[in-house]
Parts: sequence; C-alpha cells; structure tokens
Amino acid sequence: MSLTNITILAIESSCDDTAVSIIKNGKILSNKVAGQKVHEIYGGVVPELASRAHQANIVPVLDVALKTANVQLSELNAIAFTQNPGLIGSLMVGCSFAKSLAQSLNIPLIAVNHMQAHVLAHFIDEPKPIFPFLCLTVSGGHTQIAVFSNYFESKIIGKTIDDAAGEAFDKAAKMLNLPYPGGPLIDEYAKNAHVEFQFAKPNIPNLDYSFSGLKTSFLYFLKKEMIKNENFIIENRDNLCASIQNSIVKHLMKKLILASKQTGIKNIALAGGVSANSSLRNEIEIEGKKLGWKTFIPAFEYCTDNAAMIAMTAHFKFLNNEFVDLSVAPSSR
Ligand code: KG4
Ligand code: ZN
Repeated sequence: MSLTNITILAIESSCDDTAVSIIKNGKILSNKVAGQKVHEIYGGVVPELASRAHQANIVPVLDVALKTANVQLSELNAIAFTQNPGLIGSLMVGCSFAKSLAQSLNIPLIAVNHMQAHVLAHFIDEPKPIFPFLCLTVSGGHTQIAVFSNYFESKIIGKTIDDAAGEAFDKAAKMLNLPYPGGPLIDEYAKNAHVEFQFAKPNIPNLDYSFSGLKTSFLYFLKKEMIKNENFIIENRDNLCASIQNSIVKHLMKKLILASKQTGIKNIALAGGVSANSSLRNEIEIEGKKLGWKTFIPAFEYCTDNAAMIAMTAHFKFLNNEFVDLSVAPSSR
C-alpha cells in the first residue's frame, strides 16, 4: 500500500457523542457528530441510554461523514475507533462496529486512546505544537498536565485527585439549576457578568488538582444565601457563573504556571472539552504573553469530543504500523 495515500475512517463513541471522521493523508475531509439530547433531563449521562443512542446514530453519522468527504467505503485503508477510556457500553458499540467494518472491507484496525487523541488534535491544523510541550487536558472525566516529548511519549506530572474540571463546571451548573452539560452555559452566562463572589481556594500540593472543596464551598454559599433570599440564584445567576468559572480557571492556571516553571517548558497546549471555555482560553493567552509562552489552543470543533482527533491519532499510528487484530476489546479506563 502506498504511504502517499492513506484514507482512514475513525469512530468516537466513548461518552454521549457519536462521531465519525474521514482523514486522507493527514488532512481531515469530514468531521461529523451527533449529540444525545436524551441525557439533559437526567442531569448527567445515563450509560444505558448512551449505548442505545450510539446504536441508532452510528450508521447515519457514518453515511454523512462519507458523503461529505466524497469517499467510498472501498477507498478506505483502515478503520479506527476509541478503545478507552469511557463508558464501556458506549465504547463497545463503536468498537464492535469498527471491527465488523474492518473485517468486511478486509482492511486493518487501529485502536485509539481518547485522552491521547485530545492532545493529538493539535496536529490537525496550524500552528502545531513544538516538542517538548506541556498539555493541560481538561474534560468531563479527566484533568491532567502531561509533558509530551513526541507523538506517542508522554508523562503525566499532575492530575486531579477527585473531580475533573468539566465535572466541577457541570456540578456547579446543576446547583444553579442549569441543564446538563452545564459547562458551556456557565461560560455563556458569565460573558455579560463580573466576578462578585469568592469561594474556598483549593489548597493541594505539587501539580495536582482538587475541585471537591470548591464544589462544597459553592454549595454552602448558595444554601446560606438562599436562606436570606430564596430568589438569590435566579437574581444572581450570571455573576454566580462568572464567579465559579473564575475559581475553576484560576486553579487550573495556577498549577499550569507552576508546571511550566518546574519543567522550564514554555510550549503550552490546551486540550479536552473544557478548553472550549472562553475564560480559560483568555487566561492562557494573557498569562502566556507575560511568561513568554508559545500557546496552542485547538479550534472549538476539535476541543469537545469529536472523531477528527481519533482520525488524526490513527493517521500517526498507521505511519507507525500500530494495528490491532479483531480480538481487541474496549476498556473503561
Ligand atoms: O472532552 P469532552 O467533550 O468529553 C469528555 O471526554 O469528558 O468534555 C466535556 C466537558 C463537559 O464537562 C462540559 O461541560 C465541558 O467539557 N465543557 C465546557 C465548555 N464546553 C464544554 N466547560 C466549560 N466551558 C465550556 N465552554
Ligand atoms: Zn473527551
């Protein structure tokens, strides 16, 4: 097979987004995603419902991805899928589908780690990060700082000891009676507001994160204020959003700045769903200017869960001859 013509179809189904992307010779031709509204009323992702929705969505999303890319199944050279981490039922839908497709087309299969893919999403567009770089990956399930020395080599130097940053956003939003996922809503409401309230600052050693104390502090603050005024949340929604967002973002930035000082690395990348947050993006730019950082922030569509990042990672794995056989199984961790 000529290495000058590599066309890969990639499937992402780790949580509640069914996504398919086609990549040709390292260039994304299509990137389609179907979200799942079904979880909104439950205040969080319901795993069983997510698996069922993936099952219903995967063929239509695949069809649209192929049509948009103007690619036929017969032109594909490999099928890629998210192997871990994620909800096991959701991963099983994508994995089984990918295996069947690869077998029926008699082409190789590539298994991708979701967290690695969030980081390699930076290599889809310019400017691409320069190795070594620090990447702060902030999603609904993970919060970590890692040093990347090449595409496949990384070392985690800090991580959350309890909630993930996205979880902190979503739980705070729930306390404000906002629907799931509340992170993007907090971001939106905070735009026309100011930081009026302060909460307990997380105090945790090294480069690790903790959001549970902040969450409790926010909850007690709301309870106390609601006793005095039962309309407190409704009347102060936007400033509450700006304030909790500020607390989360400040904590994220503090450890990232420390990580850069400790390692001496000034190439700084941001990945994962929370990297869509405008305040975090803003802070990284402002602090980065002060500290002489070269910052790398992906386009919005590559921040939250998507299959283009799986496709990009699969492209590198293809070049590296990293394939898996049909006995491969997904894993939640
Ligand atoms: O990476 P992602 O799409 O899925 C996981 O792998 O978890 O991240 C989803 C998380 C959710 O917690 C969501 O609330 C958060 O990212 N998120 C945001 C924003 N957009 C997505 N949080 C704050 N501000 C945003 N603009
Ligand atoms: Zn993710």
